[in-house]
Amino acid sequence: MKTVKYAITTSPTATRVVGMRFARSLKHGGKIGLIGPLGSGKTTFVKGMVAAFGIPPRKAISPSFVLVQHLQGPSREVYHADLWRLQSIVSDDFRTFEELINHPSALTIFEWADKLPISLQKRLTHIVTFTQKNGRMRVIHIKTNSQFKQLKRRVPLRVR
Ligand SMILES: Nc1ncnc2c1ncn2[C@@H]1O[C@H](COP(=O)(O)OP(=O)(O)OP(=O)(O)O)[C@@H](O)[C@H]1O
Ligand SMILES: [Mg+2]
Repeated sequence: MKTVKYAITTSPTATRVVGMRFARSLKHGGKIGLIGPLGSGKTTFVKGMVAAFGIPPRKAISPSFVLVQHLQGPSREVYHADLWRLQSIVSDDFRTFEELINHPSALTIFEWADKLPISLQKRLTHIVTFTQKNGRMRVIHIKTNSQFKQLKRRVPLRVR
């Protein structure tokens, strides 16, 4: 498995910069999965990504009551999903996630992408993993779809 990008950061600002640079490299709306434990820097990275699309970083938050947040930039749309609270995936959720992945031009970002059904994980364009080291140190790996192993699905799929 080849890693396309690798970064070690020691501040939230540095993690934002990595996110911003990564987003700038995305020519077509990417479908991005972020994976890492609580507090490992996923949302901080998203703030940098959205800034690259002209959206104020403060708008990228982890929504408490909605799974997906829609952010409109001057020229591009961004969908930011946070699957942390997802206990099981009902067919409505599945369709929502599928639409986000099928969207022809939006940048779609899934925090906790390991909770997506495998059929949708396979269609992500990139996976970014976050590891927290001591204190403020974070290790960030960015891999393209063809370069990551299939993730293990962590949430049961319930079809209603
Ligand atoms: N190098 C760093 N990169 C990113 N965040 C850092 C770093 N060092 C310290 N932090 C702190 O770690 C926390 C990261 O929070 P953030 O919300 O980005 O994580 P998260 O992975 O989205 O968590 P959650 O799973 O709860 O959504 C923030 O409080 C931030 O200030
Ligand atoms: Mg978060």
